[in-house]
Amino acid sequence: MWHTMKRNCLLLVLCTLIVGCTQLNVSSPDGTLSVSFRLAEGGAPQYCVVQDEDTVIDWSCMGMLCAEQDLRSGFTKTRCITRAVDETWETVWGEERLIRDKHNELTVGLKHASGVRMDIVFRAFDDGFAFRYSFPEEGKLTITDEATEYRFKEDAEAWSIPWRTEYYEGLWTKAPLSAKSDTLCSPITIELANGRYAFVHEAALTDYPAQNLYMQDGALRTYLTPWMGDKGLGVSGLVVRGIEQMPFSSPWRFVIMARDLRQMVASRIMLNLNEPCRIEDTSWIKPMKFIGIWWGMHMKSMTWEQGPIHGATTANMERYLRFAAEHGIQAVLAEGWNKGWETWTDFSFTEPYDDWDMDYLSRLADSLGVQIIGHNETGGNAADYEAVLDEAYAYHQAHGIHAIKTGYVAPIIRTVDGLQWNKGQSGVRHYRKVIETAAKYHICIDNHEPVMPTGLQRTWPNLMTQEGVRGQEWNAWSADGGSPCNHVTILPFTRIMAGPVDYTPGVFDFDNPVMPGTRVHSTLSNQLGLFVCLYSPLQMACDLPEHYAQQPEGFRFIEQVPCDWERSMLVDGQIGQFCVFARQRRGGEDWYIGGINNEEPRELALPLTMLDPDRTYRAFIWHDSDDADWQTKPVGTAYEEADVWATDTLHPWMASGGGFAIQLIPQE
Ligand code: NOJ
Repeated sequence: MWHTMKRNCLLLVLCTLIVGCTQLNVSSPDGTLSVSFRLAEGGAPQYCVVQDEDTVIDWSCMGMLCAEQDLRSGFTKTRCITRAVDETWETVWGEERLIRDKHNELTVGLKHASGVRMDIVFRAFDDGFAFRYSFPEEGKLTITDEATEYRFKEDAEAWSIPWRTEYYEGLWTKAPLSAKSDTLCSPITIELANGRYAFVHEAALTDYPAQNLYMQDGALRTYLTPWMGDKGLGVSGLVVRGIEQMPFSSPWRFVIMARDLRQMVASRIMLNLNEPCRIEDTSWIKPMKFIGIWWGMHMKSMTWEQGPIHGATTANMERYLRFAAEHGIQAVLAEGWNKGWETWTDFSFTEPYDDWDMDYLSRLADSLGVQIIGHNETGGNAADYEAVLDEAYAYHQAHGIHAIKTGYVAPIIRTVDGLQWNKGQSGVRHYRKVIETAAKYHICIDNHEPVMPTGLQRTWPNLMTQEGVRGQEWNAWSADGGSPCNHVTILPFTRIMAGPVDYTPGVFDFDNPVMPGTRVHSTLSNQLGLFVCLYSPLQMACDLPEHYAQQPEGFRFIEQVPCDWERSMLVDGQIGQFCVFARQRRGGEDWYIGGINNEEPRELALPLTMLDPDRTYRAFIWHDSDDADWQTKPVGTAYEEADVWATDTLHPWMASGGGFAIQLIPQE
């Protein structure tokens, strides 16, 4: 991987000075944002944040409560180190090829009355800030609580899901922070005054419990996912196994502070806070679109387990592989190929059912130039999976498989430490072990029922995509009738801010014979728009090949749209109403624009200023027909072509639950 390291020699950091000072500040490179640190009465660490001369986050508490020591007060300052960073790095895959990391850093060294040393490392970016706790010396601490607060100066509307939402598969809701009585999952997205936004989350979660957030005394506070066992389910008692081996650094806590939604979506703070890539040769990591033996099971026309309508049979897979090859789709997922689906308790990851000929299918896939995506459902038994990881991945690698979808259907999983929340520290360690082991076998991971992503894909780019969302499958079987139209217009500003999502767009057939009251709340054009708006480097077109064959014109967009980008931008949007994203193919000149809408039909103004002003582009446009409507006419897609220029403004109309997709190819 190519890196450019450009150190900024001018020290722009305003470490106001010397350790003896009461307050230390670090400003962002453009000087518009600054983070201040102080030791309040009793030696209690606190920070506050000013942006554009307004205090956005007032003095907020920091520190840890440990079984051995109370590290929320009792500190003195020992040192202050500053650093300015300006470097650009290249992603292996992503929404952008090049990412600039420009920030100023301030490390405040603290010594506790007990003798424990703790550094707090702050980073100030132009679009937000971050900090982490670091313990530089040997020793032992058992964290029982983290005292981190975010004391937003104003009450504001926030988008969130409750912390116990199973696998994060819930509908995001908006309410004033002050009215959020529940503990919430990290991240949350806050609509501040004057059209500003804050996005609160964590980065580089590798050996620590996932952060949750709750309101107390007017401040948002961190609630670490409890370690289960010591106190029953760990729900009421905060017992977290934290640092047992030092030196140790906590995950980063960060807040994007954006002047508008475009800036929020464009922020790369989370990736910049993660460690650089640890995989030397990344040539085997390939973004891919895929179809799969999958939707049939969710729509109950196929089964995972062997039987009369078994999905993953040799014959079926051959049909899918040939369809993929004919249509330029790079890969095919197969669920239910392996033994164990009858009971979900004893899955094998190396033994196929006897109607699945792995040798034949892997040779066929190879000859067709299509990849097979394996599937390892663990049923939540992470410990047993860990025990056979090497064997399982060696088996897949031997059959030419470079990507596996993993699954943990159980909110409380069985880890090597017994039953644990999947987003507790033990679960976090398990998922990291999976990624690191998979890398040894050149296997990419699409992780279902994950811990909320925190940008680890920078370090381990074989962690390609994850679920952690109320995805398309809910539109097949959810008793509440399916996700409302606005759901997908919220995700880019909430869940997907945390990382790529395996939402599985691309439904073309809207009938649901088994559950007629449940369905996809969208038009076909909206499904096309999702391929651009919901970012994933492994992007599934989820419907059945026979449904795609019936709509070849719509499917042409899926054939064409890339899933790896040179650059990406939010063109327009309002959380929960609509959004329009534009993305340019990585290493190419063609652009793709996708729009998705909630229930309210609307026309948009779409200026094409992202295009090269010196070129003519041929635009291929898929949009809702005048009579399209998710309820009455979802398959109402019109198709047009036109020559367009960067000075043009298009006016796409989106039906209720509608959308559009545009491909723009520069002409010679
Ligand atoms: C839940 C996953 O989200 C889904 O994609 C998968 O098909 C089932 N588990 C079975 O593993």
